[in-house]
Amino acid sequence: MAKKIGITETVLRDAHQSLLATRMPIEDMLPILEKMDKVGYHSIECWGGATFDSCLRFLDEDPWERLRILRKNLPNTKLQMLFRGQNMLGYRHYADDVLEYFVQKIVANGMDIIRIFDALNDIRNLETAIKATRKEGGHAQVAISYTTGDIFTTEYYVNYAKQIEEAGAHSICLKDMAALLTPYRTEELIKAIKGAVSIPVQLHTHYTSGLASMCMLKAVESGVDYIDTAMSPLALGTSHAPTESMVAALQGTEYDTGLDLVLLTEIREYFMKLRKKYIDSGLIDPKMLAVDANALIYQVPGGMLSNLLSQLKQAGKEDQLNDVLNEVPRVRKDAGFIPLVTPTSQIIGTQAVFNVITGERYKTVTKEFKGVVRGEYGKTPVPIDPEFRKKIIGDAEPIDCRPADLLKPELDTIREECAEWVEQEEDVLSYAQFGQVAVKFFEKRRNKKYGVDGKHSDKEKQVHPV
Ligand code: CO
Repeated sequence: MAKKIGITETVLRDAHQSLLATRMPIEDMLPILEKMDKVGYHSIECWGGATFDSCLRFLDEDPWERLRILRKNLPNTKLQMLFRGQNMLGYRHYADDVLEYFVQKIVANGMDIIRIFDALNDIRNLETAIKATRKEGGHAQVAISYTTGDIFTTEYYVNYAKQIEEAGAHSICLKDMAALLTPYRTEELIKAIKGAVSIPVQLHTHYTSGLASMCMLKAVESGVDYIDTAMSPLALGTSHAPTESMVAALQGTEYDTGLDLVLLTEIREYFMKLRKKYIDSGLIDPKMLAVDANALIYQVPGGMLSNLLSQLKQAGKEDQLNDVLNEVPRVRKDAGFIPLVTPTSQIIGTQAVFNVITGERYKTVTKEFKGVVRGEYGKTPVPIDPEFRKKIIGDAEPIDCRPADLLKPELDTIREECAEWVEQEEDVLSYAQFGQVAVKFFEKRRNKKYGVDGKHSDKEKQVHPV
C-alpha cells in the first residue's frame, strides 16, 4: 500500500512568525479558511509560538478568540500549535497547576495537536505537558530541538526519541529551528529515529540555508510520516519549503500526499495578495527571502547572528564579530553544550559578547547565564564542570531536580492578581504568561466595550469578525 505523506501547513503560524514577525491578524486569515479546510492537510499549525504574545502585544486581538474563530472555520482539519514545555508560551518555568490548566483550556477551545519542546532537550521539562495533553484528549507531539556539536550524535537523538516515546508522546518531531540540517544528515537521523520508535515521526526545518526541500525529500525517502511546509507566497527564505512544490514532487509516487494542486493554486492566489501587501507595507523585508548559508558556516541560528552583530554595534565593537563567533562554541561548551534555541541562544550569545568586549572571560556574568549554570532551566546535555560552576554561581545551591518541582502551585495567586480584568476564564492564562502586556490588552478591550466615558459602544461587534 502506498504510504501517504501528511502535510502540516504552517502558513498561519511559523511562516508568518519567520517572515513578518508574527503580525498576520485573524482578518487576513478568515477569507481563505473555508478553502484551506477542503485541502485535506494532516494539520494546520495556527497557534502558539509567538502568536499569542503578538496578538496581545501588537494586534489587539484576544488569542483565545482567534483560536475559537479558527476552530469554527476549519471544522474538518486538525489544528496544531507550538508549546515550549514548562515555559508554556511565556519566558519562564510555570508551576504544574498553571500548565495543566492551560492545556485544559487549549483543548477545550478546539486545539487538536500540541507540539511540545524543551530548549535543553530535558525530558523532565516535558512530562507534565505530555500528561496534561493526554488527559484532555489532545495529541501530544514532542519535538526534539536539533543542534550540532560533537556530542549531538545520531545516538544522542535516538536515545532522546526513545525517552519521548516512553514518556507517552503520540508522535515525534525533529525540529530544526535553526536550519542546520543537511539532506544526508536528515536521511541518517530519520532512518535511525524511525528504526528506534514505533510512533509517527515528523520533520520541521527552515529554508534559510536553501536546503529545506532536499531535506524534506530525503526524510520522505527515509520513512518520515509528516512534513511541515508553507504555502509558497510565504515560503522560502527564513520560512519553510513550499507546500505546492512538495506536493508536486511526491505526486504519483508511493509517497503521494493526495492533495489537489489546483485547489492549492487557488489558495496561493489569496496568499500572493497578502504577500504583496506585507512587502509594500515593509512587514516583509525582501532580505529575509534570500538564501543565507551563514548558519551552516557558524553553526548558529540566523537570528542569533544578527543579534550578536547588533549587540556589538551598540558597543561600537563590530570589528570583534569573529572573536565573538569563536567564543560562542567555548561558552556553549562551558554551559554543558546546550542547544541554541530561544531562550538559550540569547543567553549564550550575550555571554560570549561580554567575554570578548570586556577583555576577560566571565568578568561580567549575566543573571540568565548564572541560571543556566545553576540548573534553573533543567539538565544540560553534558554535566557542567563543578569548578566552573563554583566560579560562576559561588556558593549558591545547584539545582539538579526538575526545576518546576521547586515551584509552589501559583494559579490561585495569579487569579487573584488579575481578578478585576477577567471577562473569561482564559484571561487568567493570558495574564499568567504576559503580565502587564495582557493588562494593557484588557484595558483596551474594556475601553472598546464601554467607550472612554463608560457607556457601552457598538464597536465591540466589529473587533472580531467571524
Ligand atoms: Co520553526
